[in-house]
Amino acid sequence: MQINALSDVCGAEVIGLDCGGPIDDQAFETIKQAFADHSVLIFRDQNLSPEQHLEFSRHWGDLNSHILTQYLLPGYPELLAVSNKKDEKGEPLGIEDAGRYWHTDVSYEDVPPMGSLLYGLEVPTEGGDTLFASQYRAYENVPEYLKGEIASLKARHRFNYVQIQSSEDSNRKPLTEEQKKQLVGAVHPVVRTHPETGRKALYVNPGFTESLIDVDEHESRALLDKLFGYATDPAVIYRHKWQLRDLVFWDNRCLMHHATPYPADSIRHMHRTTVAGSVPV
Ligand code: OGA
Ligand code: MN
Repeated sequence: MQINALSDVCGAEVIGLDCGGPIDDQAFETIKQAFADHSVLIFRDQNLSPEQHLEFSRHWGDLNSHILTQYLLPGYPELLAVSNKKDEKGEPLGIEDAGRYWHTDVSYEDVPPMGSLLYGLEVPTEGGDTLFASQYRAYENVPEYLKGEIASLKARHRFNYVQIQSSEDSNRKPLTEEQKKQLVGAVHPVVRTHPETGRKALYVNPGFTESLIDVDEHESRALLDKLFGYATDPAVIYRHKWQLRDLVFWDNRCLMHHATPYPADSIRHMHRTTVAGSVPV
């Protein structure tokens, strides 16, 4: 197994490991350390059945199921389809426009996931990259006076489905009443400490962070926008260009990510698992 850093902010590729095969404790320790060091690991050249994808994911914790249940794989409630393919009836097989904005997965829940594992079964030759922004680096770049200002602030996160659904290229189905009930949102600290590395990271994102708690509305908007500037600074970003059968494992506790568009006549078909995390502190 070989691990190569792909940028100096985050991201490393892992070569020569079969995530579907038996993996010994020592190899898992190496991967765990690399995940702590790089926040995003790209396991190249995988050949995974849904079962193998699930089993490798379960090694990192319990798996979550997504609120948009219509995009879960039939028979595999813990696998989410991120895809622009259609079924025989012409219905979308998966979320086509998943994450076309800066976000951290599922930050609108009280216990957001620690990580996500997205497996590229079919990838376009052009476009459809995923951007990852290190929120450790973003926090480091916040000036000291501002670090003091945000140290004890909390923010409200909510899954703004209405906004996403009305975006031009969306083909999403309406939410069920049950799904709407899950959209109450959550409150999290603006700066969180990573439970494994002990490093501080910004934990607000343009996708789901609505407002700062106990801060006047205008001030809240201005401060969030300022923080998003640090959070999405090109200097903290790694751009992942997908190769066929990459399995990408990212850390939601210290990263934001952003999907980029791709030509409508190409196919992008992926499966995602989501690993349970802990309450951000
Ligand atoms: C996701 C997501 C980005 C992409 O699956 O959580 O944001 O590039 N996907 O598909
Ligand atoms: Mn996402």
